Amino acid sequence: MKTYDFDKVIDRKNTYSTQWDYIGDRFGRDDILPFSISDTDFAVPDSVQTALKKRIEHPIYGYSRWNHDDYKNSIVYWFNNKDNAEVDPNWVVYSPSVVFSIATFIRLLSEPNQTVATFTPMYDAFYKVIEANERNLAPIRLGSAQQGYSIDWDSLETVLAQPQTRIFLLTNPHNPTGKVFSADELSQLSKLCKKYDVFLISDDIHKDIVYPGSSYTPITSVTTENVVLCCSGSKTFNTPGLIGSYILIPDDKLREKFLVELKAKNALSSVSILGMYSQMAAYSEDGLTYASQLVKYTDSSMDLIKGFLDKNLPEFNFVKPSATYLAWIDVSKIDLTMDELQDKLINVGKVGIMPGTTYGDSNYLRMNIACPKSKLEEGLKRLKASFD
Ligand SMILES: Cc1ncc(COP(=O)(O)O)c(C=O)c1O
Repeated sequence: MKTYDFDKVIDRKNTYSTQWDYIGDRFGRDDILPFSISDTDFAVPDSVQTALKKRIEHPIYGYSRWNHDDYKNSIVYWFNNKDNAEVDPNWVVYSPSVVFSIATFIRLLSEPNQTVATFTPMYDAFYKVIEANERNLAPIRLGSAQQGYSIDWDSLETVLAQPQTRIFLLTNPHNPTGKVFSADELSQLSKLCKKYDVFLISDDIHKDIVYPGSSYTPITSVTTENVVLCCSGSKTFNTPGLIGSYILIPDDKLREKFLVELKAKNALSSVSILGMYSQMAAYSEDGLTYASQLVKYTDSSMDLIKGFLDKNLPEFNFVKPSATYLAWIDVSKIDLTMDELQDKLINVGKVGIMPGTTYGDSNYLRMNIACPKSKLEEGLKRLKASFD
């Protein structure tokens, strides 16, 4: 079996990388070490690189189709082998990106000024997509890390019972907390959504990075009514720049409506060729090997952070997440505002770590740890130096 070397440092500068080359846009200076946007500093699996090279060698990149068995069955294979879950290949639809899918469903399933409910804190693009589509946001705050980011079922039901609430937007596993919703929680959530006729959109893009002790259940294994699951291999296999994602849409009519949006209204009838090839190559035996080694690696990186913070910065309260390569670090005991804290990180430590404010909670920092341990160690050193 191939052993992937996640310790290998690959220089990403001068590749127009958002994380590395445009760090100044986020933090105001270019000379800082980034732990920001959620892509990884790891090479893609061999199967992906080989498939892309082979396709690139063919010098014609014409309009191409995703609607064939090779594409759909790779997704069926992945859910089967990775998650022990059944997916009907007829449910599968291509979409250029997960957030494109979410935005489209928000428009298809609700009217302006109606409400989209979601757990907060949350992935920042959700705030933007709800607001830009002129929908109202109904936030339901998850409990603290110490409470396992528990769900306040009474608040949730109160929000869902409002006639204006048309959609519940879930991300499972959850960005930024790393909570993995249990099958019981998903079942209770879907029952409540059904009771109040609220449509459930689940974004499962982080599903492959789940740590021992937790187990991922796709929402489509709980219910196939009033639900869609939006996903992509791009977080796991580091291919977001290739463009491509997919949706599981069990409802035939809704699937047809989505296809009209995609192909007729937005004229996106051709797939991104490299996005499609990378997706099919990643959802394979080699992808399974890569993903399981990646999870081991980022799990041990989470241990590294925990050990470092407990020893050197005990006022930083860090509970290891159940999933994702995002460390959600409680800084509420630090006697500084988030602006003051960021000023120290950026201008003293020269390290770029996302303020929790971006995700709706100024008591936290979000650190993307999907990088070689040498970079992570340097980042932690800089974090400490920010306060020396
Ligand atoms: C929860 C979640 N959904 C979606 C995305 C982005 O996916 P896409 O680039 O396919 O829109 C991210 C990226 O950080 C994410 O964390």
